[in-house]
Amino acid sequence: ADKGGTTEHVGGHGAAPAATVSSKPAQPTNVLRPDQNGEIQLVAKVAKQEVAPGVVKEVWTYNGSVPGPEIRVKQGETVRVRFKNELPVPTTIHWHGLPVPNAMDGVPGVTQNAVKPGEEFVYEFKATVSGTYMYHSHQDSANQVDRGLYGAIVVEEPQSAYDRDYTLMLDEWMKDDNAGGMDHGAMGGMMHGSGDGTAGQNMEGMHGTQGTQGMQGMHGGSGGAAQEMSMTDMMRQHMKLYDIFTVNGKSGSLIPPLKVKEGERVRLRLINIGTLPHALHLHGHAFTVVARDGQSVAEPRPMKDQLVTVAPGERVDIAFTADNPGTWYLESHDEGTAAAPGMKVAIQYEGASKQTDRPNETAKLPGVDLLNYGKAEKGPFTLDQKYDVEYTMELGTAMGKTGMVFTINGKTFPDTPPIRVKKGDLVKVRLINRSPMDEHPMHLHGHFYQVLSKNGKPLTGAPVIKDTLNVKPGEEYVVAFRADNPGHWMFHCHVLHHAAAGMVTQVRYD
Ligand code: C2O
Ligand code: CU
Repeated sequence: ADKGGTTEHVGGHGAAPAATVSSKPAQPTNVLRPDQNGEIQLVAKVAKQEVAPGVVKEVWTYNGSVPGPEIRVKQGETVRVRFKNELPVPTTIHWHGLPVPNAMDGVPGVTQNAVKPGEEFVYEFKATVSGTYMYHSHQDSANQVDRGLYGAIVVEEPQSAYDRDYTLMLDEWMKDDNAGGMDHGAMGGMMHGSGDGTAGQNMEGMHGTQGTQGMQGMHGGSGGAAQEMSMTDMMRQHMKLYDIFTVNGKSGSLIPPLKVKEGERVRLRLINIGTLPHALHLHGHAFTVVARDGQSVAEPRPMKDQLVTVAPGERVDIAFTADNPGTWYLESHDEGTAAAPGMKVAIQYEGASKQTDRPNETAKLPGVDLLNYGKAEKGPFTLDQKYDVEYTMELGTAMGKTGMVFTINGKTFPDTPPIRVKKGDLVKVRLINRSPMDEHPMHLHGHFYQVLSKNGKPLTGAPVIKDTLNVKPGEEYVVAFRADNPGHWMFHCHVLHHAAAGMVTQVRYD
């Protein structure tokens, strides 16, 4: 089970659980594989898309749709993406979760200059680790990703154990972009700026020069000026302004049903590219979680009527056997202001007419503990082994001069202290969320880490290998990784407007 490449520590968790191997797994729609020249062509461009019934929005896309085409390659294949930018602004592509060489990571000002309008860039890397990943813009990303610049990339294992393999990307939108939200309104300008992503001008590749000036060392509440408080109110309000919840760029009745046949093994790859965690309920079927952030995990006991929560930047693959003919939903059971009507996919048995299911998105159900899950076995790292580098990352919220900022160890990027490593180092990072109410899904580029403990307690299930971990208020985690992929790598909150407002640091190889 050696997946090779830069991630030897995931070995042993790479194989899909053994099951009947079907020769022809059904394809989801809008799949892009390498052409006869071994290339994948992506063009960033403006388009129009109906995201909810009657709501047509101007969106920023790869190849004309949100999400962009689902890129599929085989494990071990070389991925060569010829990328053309036909947007009016500079942009890049980041391969979220894939341990690519640093120069291919798509972070403007760090690993490349942003691709200017009319220009091309060729991304090339080997797909070493099978699993569910995504690609998205990393330039002005709180804005560009929110407008639709994202898609899925699936690295297929040598043999699929599934008859159907569907990818579902979760996101949120606003019916009215001028409703005062952060995307395109005044806040948007404040938070995202307009850096052009060339080296030295946009070092973090997420925002321009705003959000970092004059905010050094601000922690704690400022008790602040009236203007700052109204900014806070705007941010709070913003969180409620998302009123359209989409699966693969469509909401509610626009979402095409997933077809299955009785007896088939079905895999659903759940990807969250939005800003809110979503808790999903699969109706009518027992299921297992088969991968977290692309990394396989075996659990022999299927469970039923439990929620699977996917935080921004995370991927969770679930699998079930189609053994209950009818029409069933996979739907969000988010609660309170986060409730996500329309995030609801029908699973339809071919040939079955029976309408067996009703939406019941307000039902309270227990959640799957995704961190203490699966058969306990030894992972690559332990809490008490010796580490070359130890770093404590305190995640916070503070009032800056122009509004709320999100801090790491009291600073906003680029003033946050980097994690300095040498190739081969074993690195331990303690993540602590001191924000009173914000969750921070922390994403590390170019590496997987093992999550070793939560709130001081060692994890008990199968080794948790991830690249994104949602740290809730008051929570504390210890994660570890081997510095095996030289370069400068972002480590940031995947609520992208938190990142734009400072919550970014780097792993830097000396
Ligand atoms: Cu998906 Cu740096 O992010
Ligand atoms: Cu955050």
